[in-house]
Amino acid sequence: MSTKYTWALLGILTLVVCELVTVVNSNRDEALRIMENAPVIDGHNDLPWQLLDKFNNQLSKVNLLTLNDTHTNIPKLQEGRVGGQFWAAYVPCATHGKDAVKRTLEQIDVIHRMCEHYPDVFVCVDSAEGIAEAFRTKKVASLIGVEGGHSIDSSLGVLRTFYNLGVRYMTLTHSCNVPWVDNWLVDTGSDPPKSNGLSEFGKSVILEMNRLGMIVDLAHVSVKTMKDTLEVSQAPVIFSHSSAFKLCNHARNVPDDVLRIVKEKKGLVMVNFYNDYVTCKSVANLSDVA
Ligand SMILES: *[C@@H]1O[C@H](CO)[C@@H](O)[C@H](O)[C@H]1NC(C)=O
Ligand SMILES: *[C@@H]1O[C@H](CO)[C@@H](O)[C@H](O)[C@H]1NC(C)=O
Ligand SMILES: [Zn+2]
Repeated sequence: MSTKYTWALLGILTLVVCELVTVVNSNRDEALRIMENAPVIDGHNDLPWQLLDKFNNQLSKVNLLTLNDTHTNIPKLQEGRVGGQFWAAYVPCATHGKDAVKRTLEQIDVIHRMCEHYPDVFVCVDSAEGIAEAFRTKKVASLIGVEGGHSIDSSLGVLRTFYNLGVRYMTLTHSCNVPWVDNWLVDTGSDPPKSNGLSEFGKSVILEMNRLGMIVDLAHVSVKTMKDTLEVSQAPVIFSHSSAFKLCNHARNVPDDVLRIVKEKKGLVMVNFYNDYVTCKSVANLSDVA
């Protein structure tokens, strides 16, 4: 019996004996192997909001190594092999026309301070090369996404300043209309259409984001906004946290015709694991996500 044959037979026997366990383990091993070589990049994480909500952004009062009532802490990031993380600089729609810009700056600041506070774990970066370098040094590349166009207060100057502070994507809306762009609640009938997608000023925001090199994020927008933006944008767009409308017809998800355009324009949809968007129910598991 050749050695090769013996090994093959042993392989088959192991598979038969261990059945599913082996399959599951080998999938897990394969996943770990892939993640050794390619960074997992998560498009959206609300931890900065938790830092504000629970600790008023006072990092001296938080220990991210032991924090245990949030989805994210440092051990979980490490176990999940997260190589790159977009942290959301989010402030509620209620700040629109009030202190949205100041409050967004404070969320950007807490993300910067998080990197400074845990220099062995996080490194704040603002480029693809920065992500690759962080991955080589086994740190979580930390990037910033502003969640909601209300944060720029209809000012291209504020947009440019956010870019200069390291912001590399902006979600055009949160769950409210902005003066220049409609949000997903227009598609449920909860909000009246205002710009019918992107207004003329909205188009100039997209072109300025393209010029700067800030990614356009279409999570949270209406279908008309998705289509308008895909037409106007000179660069590929992302959905930082949305799922498939065909599988769960929630208006936060991406319909098939839009998915096709996203593919054509070399964009990216980063699947949202939120149960309601995966199965349209309060429960979902990883098989449902897959
Ligand atoms: C969670 O953290 C708190 C504060 O550090 C600690 O008192 C508690 O025992 C922890 N709970 C678990 C389940 O580890
Ligand atoms: C996930 O849930 C579905 C039912 O909704 C079930 O068929 C499937 O086996 C579950 N998968 C896991 C890994 O638990
Ligand atoms: Zn969101």
